[in-house]
Amino acid sequence: MSLFFKTLRWLFGLFLLLLVLYGLGRLLHIAQDSLYIGERASYLQLASHSQMTVRWQSIKSYQGELRYGPSPDKLDGRVSEVRNTNLHEITIRNLKAMTRYYYRYGIKGDDKSSGQTHWFVTSPEMGSEKSTRFWVLGDPGLAIPGQTKVRNAALEWLKSNKRPGRADLDILLTTGDNAYKSGTNEEFQKHFFEPFKTILSNVPVWPVFGNHDARRWSFFRIFSFPTQGEAGGVPSGTEHYYSFDYGSVHFVVLDSHASRWNNNREMVKWLRKDLIANRLPWVISLFHHPPYSKGSHNSDSQRDSRGRMFEMRENVLPVLEEHGVDLVLNGHSHMYERSFLIDCHYGNSQSIKKSMILSRNKQHYVKRSIGKGKHEGTIYAVVGSSARADHGPMDHPVMAESLMETGSLVVDVVRNRLDARFISGEGLIADHFSITKGVNNATVNGCE
Ligand SMILES: [Fe+2]
Repeated sequence: MSLFFKTLRWLFGLFLLLLVLYGLGRLLHIAQDSLYIGERASYLQLASHSQMTVRWQSIKSYQGELRYGPSPDKLDGRVSEVRNTNLHEITIRNLKAMTRYYYRYGIKGDDKSSGQTHWFVTSPEMGSEKSTRFWVLGDPGLAIPGQTKVRNAALEWLKSNKRPGRADLDILLTTGDNAYKSGTNEEFQKHFFEPFKTILSNVPVWPVFGNHDARRWSFFRIFSFPTQGEAGGVPSGTEHYYSFDYGSVHFVVLDSHASRWNNNREMVKWLRKDLIANRLPWVISLFHHPPYSKGSHNSDSQRDSRGRMFEMRENVLPVLEEHGVDLVLNGHSHMYERSFLIDCHYGNSQSIKKSMILSRNKQHYVKRSIGKGKHEGTIYAVVGSSARADHGPMDHPVMAESLMETGSLVVDVVRNRLDARFISGEGLIADHFSITKGVNNATVNGCE
């Protein structure tokens, strides 16, 4: 062999070695980031009418214990962990629906180790007509002044608009990208759990999986998901997508990032089954990548976000609309964009037809069925500016409102009416829309 080929072979070997070393280093870095454990106050998971899961983290490994009861002075219920751990998770079962419970958590058998008393309220019985108020944070995971302003503005609004006899808020939902930049456990603590800790100890959170959450292995270790239909809906058997009920609302949370979204894939098969089985009148779906956006992401582009917005629009939206989804909430684009009542628009923004916009009213929308109705129209909202707002053309033709402003969405569902308010970081109601069901002369479409 000539010297030339020997040198070439040697260089190729060196290149392969460096590639393997880089890969191992990267893997180690990801593992180290993912396995970080710090102190974390309690947060509520898997909420239903009869159970609640309380989670927290501790640097020191110990057997955790939860004391709970009907008043702060009467914490006579006790549930303990069976082994030492840093990632604590205790589920309380056989609770009464729509009931406020108080709790303390700490080291097993050491009542002095328990900190302050927190509370939670269980969900209403499934199918109950009780009203629902939920708060939606989109791409909130950046502890910057913008996030603080958005949080404080919404909390102030909730405080000034209380519902008699009810907590200020029933549930907290996110549209993904919960912790920038890479979704490490440490970043989750700094950018999500610390800023929202006073809410998270008392109000259950249901998160969406965003692309930034997917960069480390923390997301699925931090949160608990109803893979077996623990809170209503058809069991999905996976943590990536799931559904749950609250009162008269069926929530469907999808994974637009990692799950395979093509028509014949498992997520869409499950989605169909879940929506057919649903008997609740309101259906709201959340996933990260918006099917319609001309914000900091362009839903017309096959290359943007590797075509995820495109694929969700083509393969998931027809199923959602066929089964009467009322509202779809997304993030990813760091702004607020909210559509008219639309139906059957599965192409790019230039392909929209007049018939696909069922109502051009800027604020109020009506639907014929009191329950779920096929192709009666859906509102799509991109809520992605709960920490910062970015730039974009903001000219998607389905949108009734496009705002380059920080903010979050508060949604009320009371019997046959839904009201959603986008509360800006400046404390203004920058958008307010409503959907009323059971209106006879409402338009019904049907894709041709
Ligand atoms: Fe994103």
